[in-house]
Order: sequence, then structure tokens, then C-alpha cells
Amino acid sequence: MTLKVTVIGAGYVGLTTAACFAQLGHEVHCIDINEIRIAELKQGKLPIYEPGLQELVIKNVQVKRLQFVFGLENVPVGQKIYIIAVGTPMQEDGSANTSYVEAAARNIAKHLNDYAVIITKSTVPVGTAEKIHNIIKAELLRKNKKIQYSVVSNPEFLKQGDAVKDCLYPNRVIVGVDDQRASEIMKQLYVPMKLTSEQYLEMGIKDAEMTKYAANAMLATKISFINEMANICEKIGANVENIKRGIGSDSRIGFAFLNAGCGYGGSCFPKDVRALIFNAEQVGVDAKLLKAVELRNELQKYILVQKLLNYFASNIKDKTFAVWGLAFKPDTDDMREASAVIFITEAIKRGAKIKAYDPQAMLVAQKMFPAEYFKNGLMLVSDKETAVENADGLVVITEWPEFKTANFKELQQKMKGKLILDGRNCLPKEKITSLAMDYIGVGI
Ligand SMILES: NC(=O)c1ccc[n+]([C@@H]2O[C@H](COP(=O)([O-])OP(=O)(O)OC[C@H]3O[C@@H](n4cnc5c(N)ncnc54)[C@H](O)[C@@H]3O)[C@@H](O)[C@H]2O)c1
Repeated sequence: MTLKVTVIGAGYVGLTTAACFAQLGHEVHCIDINEIRIAELKQGKLPIYEPGLQELVIKNVQVKRLQFVFGLENVPVGQKIYIIAVGTPMQEDGSANTSYVEAAARNIAKHLNDYAVIITKSTVPVGTAEKIHNIIKAELLRKNKKIQYSVVSNPEFLKQGDAVKDCLYPNRVIVGVDDQRASEIMKQLYVPMKLTSEQYLEMGIKDAEMTKYAANAMLATKISFINEMANICEKIGANVENIKRGIGSDSRIGFAFLNAGCGYGGSCFPKDVRALIFNAEQVGVDAKLLKAVELRNELQKYILVQKLLNYFASNIKDKTFAVWGLAFKPDTDDMREASAVIFITEAIKRGAKIKAYDPQAMLVAQKMFPAEYFKNGLMLVSDKETAVENADGLVVITEWPEFKTANFKELQQKMKGKLILDGRNCLPKEKITSLAMDYIGVGI
């Protein structure tokens, strides 16, 4: 059964959700407060890079299952489902800023004219669904409107870089719901995905909200754990890549998120771990483990510059380094909390020159770095070969596939120095060392 769905927010989650539900046969409107974003989307121009998303958007716009409009007042009446997918950025104290979610809820209430299910896909602190419920109730009361509605928590687990695949073929869907009517509509929304009962998990609203934080905290913990192992391995002469093989093959542990490197970034892990620490504190729990996970990650982002200083006897002034990779991970142009930002900031501060390249994040980088960085020696270059020309060293910060398969012999001829610093342990170490270059990884 086709449902009328309105998605609020056209970012990574909103845009992907809108395109995927349209692809699954629902009639979807997607709105955003950013007028330029909506105008560009109407012309088929996407604000973000995500593999397969552009094709999916264009296809569904053509068959009119997906429409971008500015403002809820331009969405036809009779919407069955509103999905809130706006940002919940971190505030200074570590808490999640839910003001965009609350604004979206107020906006929905203004335009509500019949029963609808209001879903939060944004990652929100436990108790936010209740807050949304009360905001809508107050707004309806103010307007003297008697309309029934349900609020549901349906957190999103997609990974940037795999967003379309994760959204169309999720390994599980979490639905936090506390009334039968909404529960039935949620099932209709997901029917086209043909999920099994192990994949479609209904639970209480607070449980669903908490599940999202617990999932991200668990994944961040695995990364910080292996990074800590890497740091120990370096000092005791063990190879963390073998440790990973040895423990990952234990089915109770698994290989996922056990890649040692220069720290996790992105819009989710850092923000969600901190928000959970904050929320725990609010209810009197000192989240010691999560604090350690976060601290390990913060420190890990500085290891590349430390390794560089060790190699060059603490002086990198006027040395030139190629940086390969700016996005926080491959297959995205997102640089939020990216390790590259810390590395470049620290290197420039010490007088080094940087020639940086990323397959997707160049425009984002151009806007993100302050003008003084460009005056003080940061250059963004058009390809990885240009980046290494006359460089004293190459620093790899994002594990894009094209870096792994680079021609290191050619690269050696272009470089002035012979250091290759691999922040993701993703390059062929033996091939590089056989060329008499100096390879330094993390924990190997
Ligand atoms: N990015 C991810 O990989 C990911 C994965 C799972 C969950 N999440 C969560 O999903 C939420 C959205 O994340 P994102 O990465 O898509 O954010 P984003 O910043 O890419 O997009 C948010 C969009 O919402 C719009 N917006 C803000 N307030 C609005 C309003 N009142 N009405 C309409 N539009 C509004 C913004 O203009 C922006 O386009 C966050 O809570 C995030 O934690 C993100």
C-alpha cells in the first residue's frame, strides 16, 4: 500500500530516506529550511556525495514519486507519515542540540489536519519523542484543533558511503512505538522491504532512542579499543594487524570496526558518544568507559603529527607533505570531525606546507579551512600525483581505494623525501619498503 510520506530535512539521512522510500513505492515529499538546497535538488543537483543516490533521486523525481518542496505549506494535505531527519549537532557541553527537531515538530503541528504518524529518524536523546508529543499537543491546543497523532522513534543506522544500500537493505529496523494504530502504519511503511521478524524489531520508544546511542557507542568503543592495542603494540614490538586477525576471527568479536588508525570522525560517533556521556551524567551515571573511548579517540587524532615530528627530529618547519584523504572516511565528502583537520591544523601550526588531495571532499575542504591556512602553506591539489611532487613525505589519512593501488615506484620518483606515513594501515607495506622507502603505520 502506497503511503504519503513527508521527510523533513534533506541532508545525508533525509535525502537518502526520501529517495529510498520513493524507490520502494511510497509517495514522498522532501522539505528543507535551506531554500538553495531545495532549488538545487529540483534541478537534480545533490548537496552531498553518496554513491548511487543521485541516480535514485533523479529516477524517482522523473516518475513523480519524489518531490522537493520548500516549506510544509507546499506539501499536499493528507500526509500519513512525517519523518523528522534534521540535524542534532553537538553543543558545547556535549549534549545534542534538539532545537531543529523541536522546530520541525512545531512546524508539523501547524500543518496537521488529519491523523498522522510523526517519526524521528534523527538521533535524539532518550525522552525526545515525549518532548515532540508535548510540543505538538501544545500547538494543536493553541489552535484549538482536535487531531490525533502518534510519535514513533525509528532511528537510522545507515553508514555514509553505503547509505543507499543500508537504507534499502537494512540489517535491522528499530521501531519504538507505543500504540497499535501507529504500529500498523509503520509496518505498512516497511512492507516493501520484506524484512524478517528478526530484522523488524518493535520495542518501547525509549528503548529505540537508546538503541541508536548504544549502537554508535559500541562501534566507537571497538575502534578506540583497537587503537589502544595499536599504541601498546608499537611500544612492545607487536603488530596490531596480526592482533586484529587473531581476535577478529573469534566470532564473538568479529572483524568489523577493528581497523587501527588515526581516530574516528564524522557527524555521528563523536557527537553521539559525547551526548550519551552527557545524558548519563544527567541521570547520575558517570559513564567512565565512554569517556575513555572518547579520550582515546581525541588523542589518536594527534598521532600522525607526533610520528612526523619523531621522524624529522621535532622540526617540520618548511617541509612539504602530501596529504591523501580529507573526508572522515572513504566514499563521502563529509569532513565533520575528520582526522585530516587536526593533522593539517597541527602541521601548519609548526610551519609545514601541505598539498592535500581527496577524491570527493575538495569543495568541502575549500570552504572548511580558514583563509589563513591557505596563506600559510595549505594547497588543495587536483590529483594524488600532484600532491606528492617534491614532497618530503606522504601522509595517508583516508583509506580511499585509489590510494591503496597507487604506483609507488612512480611516486618515489616524484617525491623528494622517502617517508610514507599510513594513518589507516591501508597501503601495501612490503611493496613500499622493498623500494627502500620509509613506511610508518599505526601499531605495525
Ligand atoms: N549522517 C549519518 O551518517 C547519520 C546516520 C544515522 C543517523 N544520523 C542522524 O540523523 C540526523 C541528520 O543527520 P544528517 O547527517 O542527515 O544531517 P545533515 O546536516 O546532513 O542534514 C540535516 C538537514 O536538515 C535541515 N534542517 C534543519 N532544520 C530543519 C527544519 N526545521 N526543517 C527542515 N529542514 C531542516 C538542514 O538544512 C539540513 O539540510 C542527525 O540526528 C544524525 O545524528 C546521521
